[in-house]
Amino acid sequence: MSQAKPLKFVSLLGSLRTGSFNAVVARNLDLLAPEGVDVSALSSVRDIPHYDADLQAQGFPETVVEMGKAIAAADGLVIVTPEYNYSVPGAMKNALDWLSRLPDTPVAGKPVAILTASPGAIGGARAQYHLRQILVFLDGRVLNKPEVMIGQAPSRLDPETGSITDADTRSLITAQLSALAEMAGRQG
Ligand SMILES: Cc1cc2nc3c(=O)[nH]c(=O)nc-3n(C[C@H](O)[C@H](O)[C@H](O)COP(=O)(O)O)c2cc1C
Repeated sequence: MSQAKPLKFVSLLGSLRTGSFNAVVARNLDLLAPEGVDVSALSSVRDIPHYDADLQAQGFPETVVEMGKAIAAADGLVIVTPEYNYSVPGAMKNALDWLSRLPDTPVAGKPVAILTASPGAIGGARAQYHLRQILVFLDGRVLNKPEVMIGQAPSRLDPETGSITDADTRSLITAQLSALAEMAGRQG
């Protein structure tokens, strides 16, 4: 892609775990992004308090405000998350709940890509569809294809070295980020 100004994507990670497979994916996004696309990490979902309307009434937490600003300024949002009990981890859902309450709705109209990784066979597929449902209310423009559901994660990702050891997985991620860039380019 030859663009004077690079597209800027931000990534949101749903795992808090040190040896997280999904963190390996998130940390490799910028490396795997096509030319003309930069990917930087948003702050951790760990830093966001549990959603509480009383807290909101006193003013949005600074972490939520900053996250909202970073998403609003980005050309696209990349969500990387584990699947917990066939759904979205609570910490990720909590972040999205806060973001949905911000007055300037930073996710609205934003191109969004979803990636999940799991030691299981279907790579977090069920969480992806719950996430898509949640993103309807946030009005994100979720990329349909290619889907990135990384099953049997220990054979494809190495948390020890931080690398994605499977070449097909690396290519798939690059293809997805390219598709997101095309979507963002069409909107821009
Ligand atoms: C509370 C909990 C629920 C889980 N539920 C699922 C599940 O529904 N589907 C799945 O594929 N893996 C499930 N797992 C296993 C996770 O995919 C696995 O722990 C994975 O490594 C978490 O992602 P991370 O490595 O990025 O932290 C669950 C793990 C936990 C702790």
